[in-house]
Amino acid sequence: MAKAPSETIYVLNGPNLNLLGIREPEKYGSFTLADVERLCAETAAQYGLKADCRQSNHEGELVDIIHEAHNKKAAGIVINAAAYSHTSIALHDAIKGVNIPTVEVHITNVHARESFRHHSFTAMAAFASLTGFGIEGYRLAISGLAAKIGAKSKNP
Ligand code: DQA
Repeated sequence: MAKAPSETIYVLNGPNLNLLGIREPEKYGSFTLADVERLCAETAAQYGLKADCRQSNHEGELVDIIHEAHNKKAAGIVINAAAYSHTSIALHDAIKGVNIPTVEVHITNVHARESFRHHSFTAMAAFASLTGFGIEGYRLAISGLAAKIGAKSKNP
């Protein structure tokens, strides 16, 4: 049976994350985006949630997906806006505008990298940010989001 809208969380991945697996594996590891999305679906299911996973290389499309999350009454958002995290006031404003509990994820520890990665507009709009846990960060983000929205684990 399809989940009620409020049981759906959106998992958004931004530019170049479709290249996971081949992109700088010494930094990002060998996992692919499909692996990340499987991990998110499995983790969400543990809390009775459905993960609607999207990836786009386009800033405006990511803004549109955040608006869609609002229209579909999503319970939460996990976002790795990738390079747009550091540049996009539009994504910051979209997250603020829809007022959906949002967690930011970065696979790498952005604070241990180039200084242009140290500031994040999406982190400013999110209630929490996870950085440097590899793809495990997505699992942690969904667990934290579940706690925030009161979704209980189905496997205590
Ligand atoms: C990233 C970090 C960003 O600085 C970078 O532009 C990315 C990936 C991460 O997940 O570690 O594309 O968001």
